[in-house]
Amino acid sequence: MDYLKINRDSWDKRTAVHVDSRFYDVEGFLRGKLSLTDIELKELGGVSGKSLLHLQCHFGLDTLSWARLGADVTGVDLSPAAIDQAKALADQAGLKAHFICSDLYGFGESLQAQFDVVFTSYGALCWLPDIQRWADIVAGSLKEGGTFYIAEFHPFYDVLSGYSYFHRDEPDIEEESTYTENDTGDTSPLVTWAHPLSDVVNALIRAGIRIEQLNEYPYSPYNCFDGLEERQEGRFYLSHNGQDVPLVYTIKGIKGA
Ligand SMILES: C[S@@+](CC[C@H](N)C(=O)[O-])C[C@H]1O[C@@H](n2cnc3c(N)ncnc32)[C@H](O)[C@@H]1O
Repeated sequence: MDYLKINRDSWDKRTAVHVDSRFYDVEGFLRGKLSLTDIELKELGGVSGKSLLHLQCHFGLDTLSWARLGADVTGVDLSPAAIDQAKALADQAGLKAHFICSDLYGFGESLQAQFDVVFTSYGALCWLPDIQRWADIVAGSLKEGGTFYIAEFHPFYDVLSGYSYFHRDEPDIEEESTYTENDTGDTSPLVTWAHPLSDVVNALIRAGIRIEQLNEYPYSPYNCFDGLEERQEGRFYLSHNGQDVPLVYTIKGIKGA
């Protein structure tokens, strides 16, 4: 199965829908808003003057938001449609950015630069079959002493949706429409793999990332799952048997000893 082709085709279609959505609010971004959430803004901190690599950058809103905060940014994504949109948005917004269209593993093999910060977020890891290979690329992309930061949806939610929590070599094939409010009902297939928190943490440790913090949140900053309840502005909770479900985790680490 050519999982890259399947996922590339589906993400190309999704990109066309996402750029027109209220969910992504491109107009707001062009008026000067940041697309980043309070979680990563608070935890990653200042990026001004730093080189920042954004892995799986989609159509570049978050990448360009870091550029607006003063970072020298590079974004990488599998989808040609997403990268074309990212480049067009950079021009429209008058922001300097470098965007590369590549599979993450292919990008890792051709890596020529090292960065002060490597960032990735919300819906990135499930597209990757081999989490150790991902962590090795994260570490290889960082300068010694550089910072890695991920904010990711918590895999606990996957169990409640009927998917595996633990990693299996055999992928899941999802046929679900997308998460933006203007969803067209298209259910092009997507190929995904589960990565439990322990696998992500251990892969980063083995790759040489010294983990400084691991946090879990009982809310999502995005209204992108069924059954969420906005209890505070921009904080969407899910209750299961009367208890809050962890919906996001974050990891911050430093390359080297
Ligand atoms: C949910 S989005 C990223 C989330 C980002 N926070 C956002 O909403 O803008 C997932 C992205 O991963 C990209 N992607 C999927 N598989 C990939 C791969 N093997 N290599 C690089 N990018 C990939 C997709 O093209 C898509 O743009």
